[in-house]
Amino acid sequence: MPTLVIEGSQWGDEGKGKITDYYSQGADVVVRSQGGNNAGHTITINGEKFALRSIPSGIFNPKTKNILANGMVINPKQLLEELHTLESRGITDYKLYISNRAHVVLPYHEILDGLYESFKGNHKIGTTKRGIGPCYSDKANRIGIRMGSFIDEDEFLVALDEALKIKNEELRMFGISPLDKMEIFNEYKAYAMEIKKFVCDTSILIEDEIEKGSKILFEGAQGVMLCIEHGTYPYVTSSSPTASAVPLDSGIAPRYIDNVLGICKAYTTRVGEGAFPTEIEGNLASYIRERGHEYGTVTKRPRRIGWIDAVSLNYARRVSGINYLALMLLDVLSGLDEIKICYKYELDGKAIDYVPSTIKELERVKPIYLTMPGWNDDITNIKKFEGLPENAKAYIKKLEELTKTKVALISVGPDRKQTIEIMNIF
Ligand code: GDP
Ligand code: IMO
Ligand code: MG
Repeated sequence: MPTLVIEGSQWGDEGKGKITDYYSQGADVVVRSQGGNNAGHTITINGEKFALRSIPSGIFNPKTKNILANGMVINPKQLLEELHTLESRGITDYKLYISNRAHVVLPYHEILDGLYESFKGNHKIGTTKRGIGPCYSDKANRIGIRMGSFIDEDEFLVALDEALKIKNEELRMFGISPLDKMEIFNEYKAYAMEIKKFVCDTSILIEDEIEKGSKILFEGAQGVMLCIEHGTYPYVTSSSPTASAVPLDSGIAPRYIDNVLGICKAYTTRVGEGAFPTEIEGNLASYIRERGHEYGTVTKRPRRIGWIDAVSLNYARRVSGINYLALMLLDVLSGLDEIKICYKYELDGKAIDYVPSTIKELERVKPIYLTMPGWNDDITNIKKFEGLPENAKAYIKKLEELTKTKVALISVGPDRKQTIEIMNIF
């Protein structure tokens, strides 16, 4: 199949970077279509670890075209830092393209992100404070600045002047001194000049590749439960990490999406605030957190830990078009006597099998668990499904049944090589 969407099916950090890198060996193109440097994708190649934020995970393959598409919000300063870090580590032979329609994250977006959070107090979202929400708000408000204007000095100055008229008023309301237009302009025009060579109409590029029959990966960021439409609103990000949004956010027809691989941990994690029905605490959570190194790539915050939640996975499958799952970090569960799978919620005394729409209801649900026996073996070097412990196989089969989705890949360690391919879907 020529196209595959790699999509987070939980609350992000499921291992999308690892799987995109795994498949990118055979991909002609890797596209990031939404989000920005709120994402942190970790890739381990022969023991060497890389953390990517805005750059697609195909960057390590010199032949792969890496595209930052129109639905992204891009911080030029951070993007260049990321690129320079890669170059300093020997990644100098790469192909990078940036959409002229992607929006630019500017200093006032980051400042406002922090201010909104501090004014929300107890109701803060726990954002990454990278200015993602304020940048998408400006896009919807039609005062955003797109890459095409950013790389044209005259247009950038005019657009910045217009935006700052409003943004400085907003900052004044929060008691913050206004930002100096020329200071931002002079700093950012240098970034624009450096980025200019990568900027083009990426929709044309992707369609040309599709027509040639190229193999294309769409690398998701965040996860379905953080979707602005279908996630646990308002504790979500400001874009849609679903496969449904990929055509819009990359400028292609929906009919070009062949398969959607939902990336899913063998348990669940969440960073930031918001309801989390299967959350666990204490020694068990610490065991999983330490074995899985569950600390944020971007903010280093300890991730909240929970059992796997088949109710929300089924929901993610329905609203976002997942037709296969990649089960990640299965190795982390080794050594547990028993493993739980949430297959229903109890809401006010009634068993339900859907995700309620309001946070108040979601906060009230209690998980109903099925308990499966665990395994003790180290599985990090297993290469085939048949080689897994019987209890691990039974766990995977049960999950397939509850989520109505086939597991195509199993990951038993962070390295590219620690991947068990059950089905060939790309
Ligand atoms: P992403 O945002 O979805 O790309 O995921 P992150 O990179 O933020 O978080 C996933 C973490 O799990 C990273 O530290 C990966 O190196 C690590 N990882 C991925 N797959 C596995 C696995 O199968 N086992 C273990 N132990 N770690 C893994
Ligand atoms: P990857 O691609 C995990 C979360 C934040 C916060 C909420 C809103 O690495 O899976 P934002 O800064 O986007 O306005 O924050 O979304 N969040 C993520 N959590 N992984 C991510 O990306 C995330 N990107 C945003 O923690 O709860
Ligand atoms: Mg991440």
